[in-house]
Amino acid sequence: MKRRNIVAGNWKMNLTVAESRELAVAVLSEIGAGFSGCDVGVAPTFVALTETAKALDSSSLFLAAQNCHFENEGAYTGEISARMLLAAGCSYVIIGHSERRQLFGETDAIVNRKVAKALQDGLKVIFCVGETLDERESGITGDVVTRQVKGGLAGIDGIGDLVIAYEPVWAIGTGKTATSEQAQEVHALIRGTVAELYGAEAADGLRIQYGGSVKPSNAVELFAMPDIDGGLIGGASLNAADFAAIVKAAC
Ligand code: 13P
Repeated sequence: MKRRNIVAGNWKMNLTVAESRELAVAVLSEIGAGFSGCDVGVAPTFVALTETAKALDSSSLFLAAQNCHFENEGAYTGEISARMLLAAGCSYVIIGHSERRQLFGETDAIVNRKVAKALQDGLKVIFCVGETLDERESGITGDVVTRQVKGGLAGIDGIGDLVIAYEPVWAIGTGKTATSEQAQEVHALIRGTVAELYGAEAADGLRIQYGGSVKPSNAVELFAMPDIDGGLIGGASLNAADFAAIVKAAC
């Protein structure tokens, strides 16, 4: 049986607190609070987490953060810990997004520490991997993604609370989506790598989202692929009707 799809809206550095609350309310009214066919959530900025949590209250949408640090507390100016996110109402955190890797210097080793800490503290993790255009054109997509998966999961025992998001960097915010065949190929490779690390049963249960210019017009085809278990949505998640249409394609 295919896994339960999971769709998350990554709002990135967009929307004020009030705008985030408004979008959460609009998303709920578009998709209805009681949908059941898949898991759906949104990831606002840190400052908007609490108000968004209030807006989502009593719905089945989950709240996710976009990043977290690997320590509990202390002299880490500008950072936020997993326990703080849990206290703010998050059940998920996105870790290792390509924007964190490319713009903020996150290495596989840093991503690994964050994934380990978030899981240990009880957050579910959406762990992102994906190659750049140069890497794809050099024919090393498989090597890069395998290195990211192995590096990010080093020393981690259980992946029951883990979701992987495959986000080819060249497809993020560019309007260029990977074809469903291109995405499926990498998803299958990721699942194979996870099977090597954790066994076939764990790999079979792992949900792997696709991210990168997912839109209402391409969501159905992407989500129909055997190893694609939903999406991590950037731009289209800022529009309640578009996000709802993508959710509908997954549920
Ligand atoms: P876009 O959907 O805007 O391409 O962004 C994808 C993404 O980075 C989600 O995390």
